[in-house]
Formats: sequence, structure tokens, C-alpha cells
Amino acid sequence: LVEQAVEAFAAASTLEELKQARLAHLGDRAPLSLANRSIGQLPKEQKKDAGRIVGQAKGRVGQVLAQREEVLQAERAEQILREETVDVTAVPARRPVGSRHPVELMLQRMSEIFVGLGWEIAEGPEVEAEWFNFDALNFDADHPARAEADTFYVEPPERNLVIRTHTSPVQARALLERGAPLYVAVPGKVGRTDEIDATHLPVFHQIEGLAVDRGLTMAHLKGTLDRFARELFGEGITTRLRPNFFPFTEPSAEMDFLCTVCRGEDASCRTCGGTGWIEWGGCGMVNPNVLRACGLDPEVYSGFAFGMGVERAMIFRNQVGDLRDLVEGDARFNTNFTVEV
Ligand code: PHE
Repeated sequence: LVEQAVEAFAAASTLEELKQARLAHLGDRAPLSLANRSIGQLPKEQKKDAGRIVGQAKGRVGQVLAQREEVLQAERAEQILREETVDVTAVPARRPVGSRHPVELMLQRMSEIFVGLGWEIAEGPEVEAEWFNFDALNFDADHPARAEADTFYVEPPERNLVIRTHTSPVQARALLERGAPLYVAVPGKVGRTDEIDATHLPVFHQIEGLAVDRGLTMAHLKGTLDRFARELFGEGITTRLRPNFFPFTEPSAEMDFLCTVCRGEDASCRTCGGTGWIEWGGCGMVNPNVLRACGLDPEVYSGFAFGMGVERAMIFRNQVGDLRDLVEGDARFNTNFTVEV
């Protein structure tokens, strides 16, 4: 019986098999246990010997079982270690972290500058009523900017809706909603039917500014735009206003800054085309007709407004050499962009 048990234990190659072998050879119904129990029925003089023999046999079998169990447990522990090994030096497969889009970051940065001046932020719809985009802003019924050649019209049956061609309609919306005095900056998306190339996108962004109060003058306009340019491009930037025309401002001007590459000293500079100046956006004193259209008395209130190109600023401030990079969604471009000065 001892031999059989020893063989069975040796043959068990897993702890589960060993358990089965133990039940067979040391369990309640195992021959050894039966033998142990039948000792009591033996004649008195045989009991002692029988007890010793069975006891020794059980002891021996138990010992072999314990040894085998130890070996199998060690094997299992080793197997677990092997299977659950963690290479702490392995380079993990990282999921790339996303980032906000460069234009979004720039709009945010620009907006913060105006919030820092105490202005509010306003927004308006990208699909805009023709009335807000043109009429409220004193465009004639036959002004060329209304032409299908420049403006994306929303197809019939929608009537009189356009993709706003500038952020200026929010001037009228903000004035009507909030009244005067008013200081708002309007970051937003606009559309014009331009062919896409390195310096043009049919959908681009502007940041509009509008201040309406008592006694505002062109000096306030110039001071505000200078502050904005310095915050954005650094203290060294030089700006100028150049006369221009917009239906919704009078007088009107174009704001330029001195070329950030040649500073006006290289007639063959490719950045500014040798002119020394870079156009940034339009501005002017709010036309009295616009104030009237928004229910304000031009005898009491005056105001100034401006609309600056966001992508245009990024060309010179962040060396975005090709605006198409801004719409192609290449993560290498988008995640390497910073708005810090
Ligand atoms: N809306 C004008 C443009 O898109 C810019 C502008 C804004 C001009 C405000 C004057 C005042 O060109």
C-alpha cells in the first residue's frame, strides 16, 4: 500500500492531481484508513503490532505526500513568477495626448488681451442674416462685397442668409443686445469665396473690437490697437494707420505693422514684398448710421471698431509659412504650436 501511494504521488504532476492521489491513498475510504479503523476489531494481542505497522505506513505516506506537495508548490510559484514577469524597463505604448488647435489657442490668447483691458467677449452666428452682415453696417444695396463672387450665400429656400464675411455683424448684435457704453471683443470664424493657397483660406478667423461710449476718439482707437499689437508681437512692434474706406466706419483706416523680418530695411524682403509694412486689418470710427441703426444717438455716443486677421497674425508671429497647415490636421504641426510670446 505504501509503494502504491508513493508511486501515485510521484506520478502527480500538478497540485490538483496530487489532491486526487491524496484522497485515494490517505482519504477516509483509502485502504490505509480502512485498515486503521479495522484495528479495533483485532484480537487484543495483535492490536499493538497492527497499530504500529499501520501507523508507520501512514506516517511514511504522509511524509512522501508532504515532500511532493512542496516540490509541486515550488514549481507552481516559479511558473507564476515566469508568467507574470513585468519588464519595468519596457517602453510603454503611449496614446498620444491631444492638443487644442493652434487657431483656437490664438483666439484665446487674443481674447485674453482684451479681457485684460476690461473688455467683454461677444460672439455671433457663423451663418448670419444678410441684414446684420451688410445692411446694419451701412452697405449700399449694390455694394460689390455683396456680390456672389465674394460672399457664400446659403442656398434657397433659406432666404437672405450668408456665411458671415467678417465679424463686424456682431458689432450690431452686441449694440442691440447690450446697449452703450460697450467694450467688446469678438473672436470668430468668417468665410469668403477665396481660392485656397499659402496665404488665403476660404474660412478664416478675425478678432473684432468695438468700443462705444461718450467722447471716444481716433486716439483711443490707435492706443488700443497699439496695446494689442505690443501684447501679441512684443514691445518692439511698430504700427501705423493708413487711410482706407469701410461703409461702417468713418473715418476708416487700415492698420499695418512694420515688417517683423526686415523692419523696412530690405527692398527685396519676401515677407513684406519690400514695402516694409504688413497689412493686418481694418478699423475706424463707428459710422453714425450704424449707431442709429442700433438705436443710439450719434450726438451722445461715438465709438471705434477694428477687425484683425487671426491667421495673418500667425503668419508673422508664429512663422506659419503656409496657411494650409492650419486646416490639414497634421498632429506634428498642431501639437508643436505655442502661443507664448
Ligand atoms: N470688417 C472689416 C474687414 O473684414 C474690418 C473692419 C472691422 C473695419 C471694423 C473697420 C471696422 O475687412
